[in-house]
Amino acid sequence: MQTHEIRKRFLDHFIKAGHVEVPSASLVLDDANQLFVIAGMVPFRPYFLGELEPPAPRVTSIQKCVRTLDIEEVGITTRHNTFFQMAGNFSFGDYFKREAITFAWTLLTNSIEDGGYGIDANRLWPTVYDDDDEAERIWREEIGVPAERIQRRGMKDNYWSMGVPGPCGPCSEIFYDRGPAYGREGGPEADEDRYIEIWNLVFMQNIRGEGVGKENFQILGPLPKKNIDTGMGIERVACILQNVDNVYETDLMRPVIDLAQELTGREYGQNDSDDVRFRVIADHARTAAMLIADGVTPSNEGRGYVLRRLLRRIIRALRLLGATDPVIGTIIDRVIVTMTPSYPNLATEAERIRDTAVAEETAFLKTLAAGTKLFADAATQTKEQGRGQISGSDAFTLHDTYGFPIDLTLEMAAEAGLSVDEKGFATLMTQQRERAKADANARKVGHADLSVYADFLEGAATEFTGFDELTSEARVLGLVSAGQRVRSAGAGSELEVILDRSPLYAESGGQVGDIGSLSSSDGLRVEVTDVQKVGKKLWLHKVRVLDGELVEGDEVLAQVDQAWRHGATQGHSGTHLVHAALRQVLGPDAHQAGSLNRPGYLRFDFNARGPVTEAQRAEIEEIANAAVEANYPVNTFQTGLAEAKAMGAMALFGENYGDVVRVVEIGGPFSMELCGGTHVANSAQVGPVTLVGESSVGSGIRRVEAYVGMDSFRYLSKERALLAGLASSLKVPSDQVPGRVELLVTKLRDAEKQLERMRADAAKASAAALIDSARQVGDVKVVAARLADGLGGGDLRSLVTDLRGRMSADAAVIALFSTADGKVPFTVGVTALGIEKGLRAGDFVSRIAPLVGGRGGGKQDLAQGSGTDASGIDAALKQIATIAGGDARG
Ligand code: ALA
Repeated sequence: MQTHEIRKRFLDHFIKAGHVEVPSASLVLDDANQLFVIAGMVPFRPYFLGELEPPAPRVTSIQKCVRTLDIEEVGITTRHNTFFQMAGNFSFGDYFKREAITFAWTLLTNSIEDGGYGIDANRLWPTVYDDDDEAERIWREEIGVPAERIQRRGMKDNYWSMGVPGPCGPCSEIFYDRGPAYGREGGPEADEDRYIEIWNLVFMQNIRGEGVGKENFQILGPLPKKNIDTGMGIERVACILQNVDNVYETDLMRPVIDLAQELTGREYGQNDSDDVRFRVIADHARTAAMLIADGVTPSNEGRGYVLRRLLRRIIRALRLLGATDPVIGTIIDRVIVTMTPSYPNLATEAERIRDTAVAEETAFLKTLAAGTKLFADAATQTKEQGRGQISGSDAFTLHDTYGFPIDLTLEMAAEAGLSVDEKGFATLMTQQRERAKADANARKVGHADLSVYADFLEGAATEFTGFDELTSEARVLGLVSAGQRVRSAGAGSELEVILDRSPLYAESGGQVGDIGSLSSSDGLRVEVTDVQKVGKKLWLHKVRVLDGELVEGDEVLAQVDQAWRHGATQGHSGTHLVHAALRQVLGPDAHQAGSLNRPGYLRFDFNARGPVTEAQRAEIEEIANAAVEANYPVNTFQTGLAEAKAMGAMALFGENYGDVVRVVEIGGPFSMELCGGTHVANSAQVGPVTLVGESSVGSGIRRVEAYVGMDSFRYLSKERALLAGLASSLKVPSDQVPGRVELLVTKLRDAEKQLERMRADAAKASAAALIDSARQVGDVKVVAARLADGLGGGDLRSLVTDLRGRMSADAAVIALFSTADGKVPFTVGVTALGIEKGLRAGDFVSRIAPLVGGRGGGKQDLAQGSGTDASGIDAALKQIATIAGGDARG
């Protein structure tokens, strides 16, 4: 059965059972905790937590997922994919264990004619969580699975969470026995290669707290309702139903293996290490294409780094299989053709996807060469020093700077008969990871441990009143100080306050949090310095108590700082104007990749293949300012996601499905975006928009920055003052400043050249005087002198060469010193007759160098050096005569 049919049967089965089909969300959701969507339930998280109403009590989806934790396993085991499709059915407080188990069982075991997958029931082994007697009983009594084919397993295997705080619950997994050829008897507990997991049924009922891994976390309490979350691995079911050995040989991946055979001339199925490479190519190419389609571009951190690593692994695997030309474009084309029937956007985005992958290949092939050279140098040095191990820091540089995966370095080292200090490498990697983790934590709300907010998260969300008013009455629901609940706080304390309602905007969607105040009639005065959201529903006000006492339960007046809010709305509306202008100029491929706006300032990151040219920058600015001038009304309204998209509203990453969404429209078609931010009433209020910078913030991502409103005016006014200052110093009208500056630069350059020539002439002129100063030491003439300051090694060299010529009739040594920029350059020359007498310029240099604290060397006729200690020059001059007098002759 083809993958297409497996997908269709899954959806049909659940739609028939009353589920509403929901399309797959983007692989990239706006969640600081997760790089990619790792399971079908991820987009539904707010529904499980009770933060949002689900579109229906029963839904079903086939969600694109990326997991890269097991990247090293890809191609080695039979079942690990970095990209996979998770088919799921979900109940939000509707049905629970019995129905979930029955639905899964019937789809798997119903005959093909009846719309099922026709899997032999005797090959299926369910597992249940340790103490889940209920699930075990359902499997045994209601489904009829013999007790010996049901296994109980602990937290690690049968308790599911996203790995971060959020919904969780015990689960029951269904495994398929592939038969004795694949491993040991004894069920999943004994061998997960032979017994392959195909479906996980999660009885989602609790909230997980902070902690690490699958076992070490606290369960904070029950979810508002009991839910079902399931995930069936489409690729694994395909592997079984298509009767192939592993997921890489199923109908959607095998074509890439076939192509790789053609491109490299190697055959699949001949030897194990080649086969792993073929499978890596098939797996990674698909993941890369899907990630690029969803807006990820290669970079050195976060999502972009994962993509980069995948692409580089493909490129390396292809090289190791013998490919010599760039081939990744062809590979990606094949992925697109195979995957388009399920994901039509791949065809429309084909060019961008291909170009991005090819650009990465081009870049890596460049560093591949540079990195290979660095490796060769490191290997030579290692051997010269009599060691057998490439240092951890070299391996780390290769990884970090040249993008060499460590296993590539290991292979190259083995070829050179060396090993790698893997421990040293691992230490550096850990340090780097810890730095990254510290950064990520610092970005999160106040404290890493969110359990202190658990009580509040169960209650109602903070009501945001700030679209309509700047002052609201509110009640203090809770106070948190240094991660602990407190009941009250006096003057001078800094803490976090949760209110039942608030007019202050909490940071999100790129707009920073409002500042403002809390007060009451009995003298309470509190300054609000920032507002952040917890769990998308609680407004956390960061405050400083100025006067009085803040007490839990108090009624207060919450007020937004009006000037701040005015600036913030200018910044946010300005961002929409710049975004719209940017897309007009650069085209719809300029996807938003991030933004930040605060009063007076905005920055906007977007995908682009190259820098924005000066002409494009000017055009973007012109369009944005024309929109300001047009005084467009700004409308905001709520509507369904589908309606909003149909209207052409730009949906950004991170919106949840089925939800009512807020649309912000500036000037009808000019700009329409899904947005929860605060905005001006008409575009003229944004004031002048000045683009001040355009830069790169990672591969394929550019950033523009702009000022708006009074800040924009102040910026321009400062620039004008600067120009006026220049004009006055240069004594020309300001429009002549550029011409005058150019003229000055040219003049300066000419003057420098002339000065250089004069210095050289002066030095030559001094040649005659120097010859006059020659002393006879035995049968050798010695010219040893300290010249004027400021002569470089080049000046000395030409002077010495000149003197050697003039004195060629003598046996002579010429040694000249100068001082320049804290250095003591010196040069020694010996004439041919001097050399005959055994004098060597190199010997002079190596013996006098220590006297001026330096080093040097050269040939017998001419040698140069440089020192740092001018106080040794006199001694060095004396030494020249001594050496010439006899003791240097060899
Ligand atoms: N969320 C569950 C999983 O990913 C179904 O395994």
